[in-house]
Amino acid sequence: MFVDHLSLLDFRTYQALDLPLTPGLTVFVGPNGVGKTNIVEAVDWAATLGSHRVPGNGPLIATGAERGVVRARVDRAGQRTVLEYELNVGRPNRVRINRAAPVRAREALGTLHTVLFSPEDLTLVKGDPSHRRRFLDDLATAMRPVLSAARADYDRALKQRNALLKSTRGRRGFDESDRATLAVWNDQLARAGAAVMGARLQLLKALGPEVDRAYQQLTDGPKHVSLGYESSSVAPGADQEALGHFSVADLYDLMMQAFERMERQERDRGITLVGPHRDDLLIRLGETPAKGYASHGETWSTALALRLGSWYVHLADDPGRGSAPVLILDDVFAELDARRRRRLAELVGQAEQVLVTAAVDEDLPSALLEHTHTVVDVSPGAVAVRSAAASAEPSDPATDGPDTGGHGG
Ligand SMILES: Nc1ncnc2c1ncn2[C@@H]1O[C@H](COP(=O)(O)OP(=O)(O)O)[C@@H](O)[C@H]1O
Ligand SMILES: [Mg+2]
Repeated sequence: MFVDHLSLLDFRTYQALDLPLTPGLTVFVGPNGVGKTNIVEAVDWAATLGSHRVPGNGPLIATGAERGVVRARVDRAGQRTVLEYELNVGRPNRVRINRAAPVRAREALGTLHTVLFSPEDLTLVKGDPSHRRRFLDDLATAMRPVLSAARADYDRALKQRNALLKSTRGRRGFDESDRATLAVWNDQLARAGAAVMGARLQLLKALGPEVDRAYQQLTDGPKHVSLGYESSSVAPGADQEALGHFSVADLYDLMMQAFERMERQERDRGITLVGPHRDDLLIRLGETPAKGYASHGETWSTALALRLGSWYVHLADDPGRGSAPVLILDDVFAELDARRRRRLAELVGQAEQVLVTAAVDEDLPSALLEHTHTVVDVSPGAVAVRSAAASAEPSDPATDGPDTGGHGG
């Protein structure tokens, strides 16, 4: 798949941007701070309904504006879909598909797939577990949008359960009605939590080998990457690896047992101590955990392998025509050594559309520029297409609605 047109209104540095895009490789070039990442962030937002840089919408909306708009037209094996998002603060975003009436946000998930790699991804290896949980959940949700319902249920039940534990914290007379309420939240949290954990564990089975494959392709090194799951619900000393064989019903039981085991502590501390919100993805490089042990170069390669592995998993999950996710490489090449650059450039040739940002052309390996279709010079608030390869057909700049030819879904 590829994005063939991106329009932005009051998004970051762009008051109004109308940008036709082509399949193949597009390179956004310009000095630091001109707005290159802002463009690819918008494309990624259209796929994931989130930013890789900030949690909320606030910073995405141009300063002084009330709302921002991201509109992306997606071409998947010739079928075009227009995704349109109005980003708001303090009220829900408005999501429209093919200009029809607004729909729920999650209905838009799955139309466009992206895999974005940026220097921020080093936190996947080095940072706290929340980054790794989000990585797993976002990837699982991109492939199975229904998971977003379980994630929302989980977050809601967790809030309620924490509120109960907090309000009754340490209280001796935890009465019958408190106990009954806790039982309700235990059940709801374990139901949603088992769905979330089940999705993560299932994803890990597919992801582990693909991440290692990507790591081998990037480094040729002697080390292998392996992924494991560390669940807070597993009793201390018990076997974490056994989780790989658990059904969703087993995971429900595991969480219910953990609540029982931890009740005293949870009531003392007034907070939920077990569940997928406290779990971690364990990344091992060779014999050691990557976190705390990997060198700088290994950390980069591991982070990049997690993203390329995600890209392979998407492809294996949906091998249909036009299903390959848009690959976005933000500010990546300058940081890699010559060999890794060359390797990455080779891999990039497999994607239908690749969007790359770089401060200067020299940051890009020549192997990459051999496939270059388009170079876009970025300056504050505006872009100029510098060159387009012969194979790229000119796009129609006036098209921001669904195709009149009766495509679209
Ligand atoms: N909501 C916003 N409104 C206006 N300007 C913004 C907003 N968010 C970020 N910026 C500006 O965008 C610039 C950074 O753009 P970015 O795309 O990250 O640059 P780069 O080209 O280095 O990737 C900064 O100058 C920042 O002040
Ligand atoms: Mg940038």
